[in-house]
Order: sequence, then C-alpha cells, then structure tokens
Amino acid sequence: SSAGDEGDNDRSIIYKLEKNDKSVVIFYGSQTGTAEDYASRLAKEASSRFGLKTMTADVEDYDFENLDQFPEDKVIGFVMASYGEGEPTDNAVAFYEFITSEDVSFSNGESVDEKPLRNLNYVIFGLGNNTYEHFNAVSRNLEKVLQKLGANRIGRYGEGDDGNGTMEEDYLEWKDDIFADWKQAKGLDEQDAVYEPVLKVTPLIDEVAESDSVFVGEVNKNHLSAGNGPAKGPFTASNPYLAKVVKSTELFNSDSRNCIHLELDISGSGLRYTTGDHLAFWSQNSNEEVERFLSIFGLTESANEVIDVKAIDPTAKVRFPVPTTYDTVVRYYLEINGPVSRQLLSSIAAFAPNETAKEDALKLGSNKELFHSSVTQHYLNTARLLAQISRGAVWDKVPFAFLIESLQHLQPRYYSISSSSLVNKDLISITAAVESIQPEGSDHVLKGVATNYIFDLKKSFNKEISTKDAKYNIAGPRGKYITETATTVPIHVRHSNFKLPSSPQKPIIMIGPGTGVAPFRGFIHERAAQAAKGTPVGKSLLFFGCRNRTEDNIYADEWVKYTHEPENKNGPFNETNFLQVETAFSRESAQKVYVQHLLEQKAAYIDELLKQGAFVYVCGDAQRMARDVQSALARIISSQRNISLEKGEETVKAMKAQNIYQEDVW
Ligand code: 2AM
Repeated sequence: SSAGDEGDNDRSIIYKLEKNDKSVVIFYGSQTGTAEDYASRLAKEASSRFGLKTMTADVEDYDFENLDQFPEDKVIGFVMASYGEGEPTDNAVAFYEFITSEDVSFSNGESVDEKPLRNLNYVIFGLGNNTYEHFNAVSRNLEKVLQKLGANRIGRYGEGDDGNGTMEEDYLEWKDDIFADWKQAKGLDEQDAVYEPVLKVTPLIDEVAESDSVFVGEVNKNHLSAGNGPAKGPFTASNPYLAKVVKSTELFNSDSRNCIHLELDISGSGLRYTTGDHLAFWSQNSNEEVERFLSIFGLTESANEVIDVKAIDPTAKVRFPVPTTYDTVVRYYLEINGPVSRQLLSSIAAFAPNETAKEDALKLGSNKELFHSSVTQHYLNTARLLAQISRGAVWDKVPFAFLIESLQHLQPRYYSISSSSLVNKDLISITAAVESIQPEGSDHVLKGVATNYIFDLKKSFNKEISTKDAKYNIAGPRGKYITETATTVPIHVRHSNFKLPSSPQKPIIMIGPGTGVAPFRGFIHERAAQAAKGTPVGKSLLFFGCRNRTEDNIYADEWVKYTHEPENKNGPFNETNFLQVETAFSRESAQKVYVQHLLEQKAAYIDELLKQGAFVYVCGDAQRMARDVQSALARIISSQRNISLEKGEETVKAMKAQNIYQEDVW
C-alpha cells in the first residue's frame, strides 16, 4: 500500500495523523476481522462521545521506528488479537517482531533504559481465547514492552476472552473504564453521543444491477472483470478460487441431523495444501435472513438498486467493492446472522421508529443481565431482535451507512481439510456438520450460515433440488457458481501447523470426536498411501466419539480397510494393519462414554506409545472436549509414571511446547 506522492511519509503514522487532522489512532492486529471491528468501534465512540478526531489503522501499513517522536497530545490504541499458540495475526507479525525484539531501537537512538517512549500515550485491548495455552500472549507481551519503554497507559490493560464467550462484555467493561480514565486524564468534554458517519451511501439511479461494472457478489475486480469465465490467480485470502464440487455426500443416517462430506477440485488453480491445513470457505447469507434484514430496515423495495459507498473521512475504508446493491451488501458482505452487540442497540435507538421502541432498545442496551436473558439466550439476530423491539414496525430511519459501519463483516469460514495431499494434491475435502440451534423456549431456529449453505450446495449438486428451490443464492453472482458444466464455491487455503510427524514411523494418537475426526481422515489416508508405497508406518491410534453406531459413526466404513488386527501392538504396521480405532458411543448407554474415558481405559498403552515417541493430536470442540482430554492425559501420565498430577500437567505442557501435542480446536 503505497500512496506514491507521500514518499517516505507514506508509512509514518505521525505524518498521517497530522495530514488528516487526527489526534487518535487505533491500530488493529486482526486475522478474521474481529479485532478490526472492535478497533473501529473504539475509534467511533471516542469521536461520538468526546469529539476526538479518530482513525483506525492496520499495523501492517506503518513503520514504528518513529514511535519515540509520537506527539504527547495524541493517543494510540492497540487492539490486538492473539491466535493459535499465542501468535500474532498475519498483519501484525512485522510490528510484533519489531517492538518485542531484544534490541528494539527508535529514531533518536535512545536505549531502553532511557525510556524512549516516555511521551507516548496509549490504550490497549487484547483479544484471545483462554482455551489456548498462551492466552492473549500478543497483547500481554506488547503491554510489557510498552511499559519497559516508558510509554504511559491510559486506563487499565484490557483483554477479552472468546473461549468462554465473554468477548463482547469484556470489551464493553474495559472501554467504559478506560473512557472514564481518559476523560479525567485528558480533561475531555463529554457530549451527547451523536452518530457521525464515516461512510456515505449514494444511490446511482442511472445504473442497473445487471451492468458489468456493478458488483453483485463478486469479491473483487478480478472476479468482476472475469465475467462468467475463471478469475485470475494467484488465489489468496483476498482473491478466492472458484473450486469445482466433485462430490458431496451425506455422512449421517438421521432424519434430523446432517453432516456433509464435500470434495473440491483445485487442479490448475495453483493452490497448494498439505495434509492438516484449513480450507477457507466463502459463505453468503440465506435468502430468508437477507429478506428479513432488508425488510426490517424498509429496504425490500430498493434491494436491487445500485449504490455507491464512499469514505467521507479519508482515513476510513469501504471494506467491499462498489458500486453494488443493497441486497449484495447484506447477502455477501455483512454478518447479519451473528450475535447482536449490546452497544449496537444503544446506538441504533436514536433511529427507532417510535418512542416505545427507542426506550426498549435503550433499556436492553444498558442492562447486561436483561440483554443476556432476553437476547443472547434466545440467539436473536439483529433483524429478529429489532422486529421484536418495535413490534414489527419498520426501522427505516436507520442510515444504511450506519449498518455497514456497525455490523461485522462476513468472514470466510475455516474447515479442517479431511483429505490427504499425498493421495491427491488436487483434491480437497471437508467434513461439515449442518448446524441449527432451537433455543429453549423459542419458536425460531438459528441456522449456521456456512454449513446450511454447504447443505444446499450438496442438494443442488446431486440434483435433489433446483437452484430456484435453494435457500441461498447458490447460483452465485450472475449465475456464476452454478453453470451447466460445474457447481463451484469460492475458497482459499490457510496453512496450519497441525502436521503429522516428519517420520512416518512415529506412532500417533489422534483424538477427534464428531467432525473433529476430519484432519485425521487426512492423516490416515496419508499413512495408508505411504505404506502402500512401501514406507513402513507407525502405529496409529484414533479415538473417535459419536452418539451411536447407526447414526453418526462417520467414516467407519473407511477405517476397516486399515485395521485387520485392531489390537495389533507389535506390527508389522502395513497398509492394511496400522490403524486402531476406539470409538466412544455417548448415547448407547445410560452413562455417557466420551473419548477421554476410553483414553483413560487404555492408560498403560497410551503411556507405552508416548515413551516410543508418539505424537498426540486433538481436534474438535475447544471449550470442553479439548480441555477434558488434556487433563485426562495429565492424569494418565501421572498415574502411569507415579508422579504428581502437577508434574503430569507440566509434562503435557512441555509436549505442547515441543509440538508433540498438537491441537486443532474451535
Ligand atoms: P453427546 O452429544 O452425547 O454429549 C461428537 O459430538 C461426540 O462428542 C458426541 O458423542 C458428544 O456426546 C461427544 N461429546 C460431547 N461433549 C464432550 C466432551 N466434553 N468431551 C468429549 N466428547 C464430548
């Protein structure tokens, strides 16, 4: 991102602030857009409540050698996500390495002891997930370094936890606290919050949606100009590939639950993956939710009118391509089906259709408990909630720019790849359980955005439904996704560290109940292919869990090929005899049986394998399963080796640090 005429100043945040007459910059380190959204909310609130001139910025776009020159009367915010094992997000890698390096130095060459950042004022919030070992490592380390360098924090250090689902409330509490401190420290005047748009939506009355220059779901110019032909590579996170569906089957045997095995052809795309990587799947919102959303904001009639969206504030960004239509923005670019933020209610109240609705919105927005019991617990999305508050009255005073600025942007969904690149480098499969939740005491069902799209896709691919009967626009923009010759979906590949040991002979213990088995299908296929080529492979032990053997015992038919002597512990481990599968059927007996129970039953064997250098892999539910498995393993090690439980836990942690224990959890 180079702006040319700004020359060397292009990457200077000080120059940028001065040029745009701003006094606050909120930097974000964001992977999937959440941190970016929080940064933007923080900037907006500082502006609407205190009249501060704010902007947000991607840490990747700036250099930080001149942080020591940062003006004392201005403020920097850091909203930084950590992911995986405490790693910075892709856009924050360079900044994080710079600022945390042992010999970090700034333009005036002062040493760390001289506190080179003593004039820097900052606020900081970390986004993390406490089911990971290194919870919020990025923001915590950044905070330590900033303190060491003498910078002045305004308010408290804040962090949010996605692991226990309190991110939103953690953020709200933190920002209330720090704004109070900020106000006092800098003598800010508080005003009645007013919405100051940073984007402007303009109808283009002469344009039609069918025109070649209007985006109706294409993700970028490359896809738009390609018309109905293939877009050009390289295919990346910002330029997805339209991959052909080659197979899509139902894995469950049930009237009420579905789980889809989807195979995609990536030949000729230049995309590469290795076994254990993730597939990013570009979803869209369902017809039903798009209609509900457009309708509550009075946009049904104008859904297909062409609009332009521009940044009024030169530091703001429009995060989707324009010109476009209302329908397109809602269908492809906004997260309309996610949880509603309490803060959104408080701010949208100003545009309520009547006084009662306004009061109710404000009441819900300001009462955490009430919000939780009447909104969160019922899984209400924005449109359902607003309709409930206004008793159906249309919220047509809400500016569309406000919605674009306030709602999260629709992000690709990630799936663990369930195929092996060694078996076929051009074929990627994923395994997706179709999600819907019917909250207790509610008459509506909240449907998972991407998995229901995959379900529709499966039905369409197998000609069980026509594109017209689909619940999504599976035909895609301009009918591009489904043509006479192919059914396609936009995807890209995200590389992961979840990898088989480099030596095929190492034993492995795989723990993956439900769709957590996905990457292990890839691992098993990989080892079978290695064995078939004559490479000896190590004992491979899979702990799988499902409800019962008739309904959701997925891929069981595949495992039999590799398990002639299931209890075989001594080898030879060849193509037909390297795998052992232990399945926990949770609903076949009065007592629940889970993978961790079977693990403990096999304690001696597990420890034997560990002593032979076995790698342990856990995939699936992060909140409970992965934790339970980790403590089960610590207990096994402690009892088998006659060491304290504490020592057992330390051993598991050390295994994690050495990548002998790997997790792919969500
Ligand atoms: P349940 O739904 O009967 O409780 C895949 O979802 C399998 O994982 C199911 O058999 C499910 O059992 C089980 N499961 C649920 N919670 C679990 C936990 N904390 N640890 C391990 N398995 C769990």
